[in-house]
Amino acid sequence: MRFLIYGATRGQGDGIGHSCALALQSRGHEVRGLCRDATKAAAETAFPLEAVDVHAAAGQDRLKALLREHDPDVVWSACGAGSAGPLWALKDDEVEQMIDANVRATVALCRAWAPSCVDGGPHLVLTGSIAGVLDGTGAAVYAGAKGFLLPFVRAQRSEFRRQGHHARISALLLSPVRTTGLDVIVEALEFIGRQSRSIELLIA
Ligand SMILES: NC(=O)c1ccc[n+]([C@@H]2O[C@H](COP(=O)([O-])OP(=O)(O)OC[C@H]3O[C@@H](n4cnc5c(N)ncnc54)[C@H](OP(=O)(O)O)[C@@H]3O)[C@@H](O)[C@H]2O)c1
Repeated sequence: MRFLIYGATRGQGDGIGHSCALALQSRGHEVRGLCRDATKAAAETAFPLEAVDVHAAAGQDRLKALLREHDPDVVWSACGAGSAGPLWALKDDEVEQMIDANVRATVALCRAWAPSCVDGGPHLVLTGSIAGVLDGTGAAVYAGAKGFLLPFVRAQRSEFRRQGHHARISALLLSPVRTTGLDVIVEALEFIGRQSRSIELLIA
């Protein structure tokens, strides 16, 4: 399969997008990565990695052009950010980062990609967290920002359906990778990519 992965760098977390890109490549898939940081893009050598500003008009155009150029089977966003502290202890920029990575960037990616992920187009996969579907465990801003994902993808599918289009926009909800391991995420991505319908998959 051909995978186009946004967030294919090692950020402040566990580098799931980057590690999965390497693992998918080693399993024989064609992988192209995208990220926000031009310095990281220039340093990557294992797979093609390009920096794109998803919020800029030029970046939106580039995201759309990449679908035409590479005709991927799966476009996956591993983008996200999380700080585990309680709300009262978070710094302003930690709050901002969580909203930016988990909400704004996800909206921007969908504005560029979702209209192509209909009627036989690529399968769009967005990354959520168990923290966004199970309440009460703490990390209020992270949980709330991740909780945005499911209603957002479900509503998008409905919007396309009302226009007569069948969208494949799936949600992959992760538990801590240090507990689950990476292999199950890689296998989940391959599994979702083969589905003819959207699915919501929680890795527990
Ligand atoms: N780690 C876990 O156990 C776990 C558990 C549940 C869910 N998740 C979810 O899985 C995904 C990957 O997590 P991870 O631990 O691999 O995180 P990570 O190492 O920090 O990687 C996150 C990726 O998102 C990018 N990113 C961060 N903020 C961004 C922003 N504002 N705009 C655009 N790109 C941004 C990062 O780019 P830079 O390299 O430029 O920072 C990086 O490519 C996230 O959605 C996370 O919420 C992770």
